[in-house]
Amino acid sequence: MIKIAIIIGSTRPGRVGPSVAQWVYEIAKQRSDASFEIVDIADFDLPLLDEPVSAAYHQYSKPHTQKWASKIDGFDGFVFVTPEYNHSTSGALKNALDYIYAEWNNKAAGFVSYGSLSGARAVEQLRPIMAELQIADVRAQVAFSLFTDFENFSVFNPDPRHADEVNAMLSQLIAWAGALKPLREKK
Ligand SMILES: Cc1cc2nc3c(=O)[nH]c(=O)nc-3n(C[C@H](O)[C@H](O)[C@H](O)COP(=O)(O)O)c2cc1C
Repeated sequence: MIKIAIIIGSTRPGRVGPSVAQWVYEIAKQRSDASFEIVDIADFDLPLLDEPVSAAYHQYSKPHTQKWASKIDGFDGFVFVTPEYNHSTSGALKNALDYIYAEWNNKAAGFVSYGSLSGARAVEQLRPIMAELQIADVRAQVAFSLFTDFENFSVFNPDPRHADEVNAMLSQLIAWAGALKPLREKK
């Protein structure tokens, strides 16, 4: 069974990320072609990158890095739930991506974003990062507008049409996560 992590990309107090991730999870768990788990970066207390050696060398020296690496290692693919901060993703998500390397390789990812332009710019910034991490990012994405999918820009109340978009994104993600399995097994 393909295992997909739905990763909450914001960590600040009062964030809306968890409600978006939970909504995606409720749709995802109705599927029978993969299993899903919400992973909250905030639970890992990752400081700003404090590893002396680049993650590509796989010499993780800190307990928080090892804990994060071991969590991510268990998945075949990822749904990154990203806010848009200053036309990019959050520092917290970028930091969490930078911390490890091999655990991301030859896996697949899809994106769920939110913001005033539905977080589209955050996802555009994430796509080249995926290439460097050797993550295959799928075309279909889900984008929520702060104006129409939230009340007062803070209470998540999405247009129901997004449920079909979640499933379209997940179908591509699960297919690619499965297709890359032979490469992961070569590790
Ligand atoms: C530091 C910061 C920068 C932001 N910059 C943008 C931005 O460039 N574009 C945008 O659409 N929204 C921006 N916003 C608004 C966020 O999209 C909105 O606050 C959203 O709820 C953030 O996600 P979170 O609640 O999960 O942290 C910004 C918010 C913060 C805190």
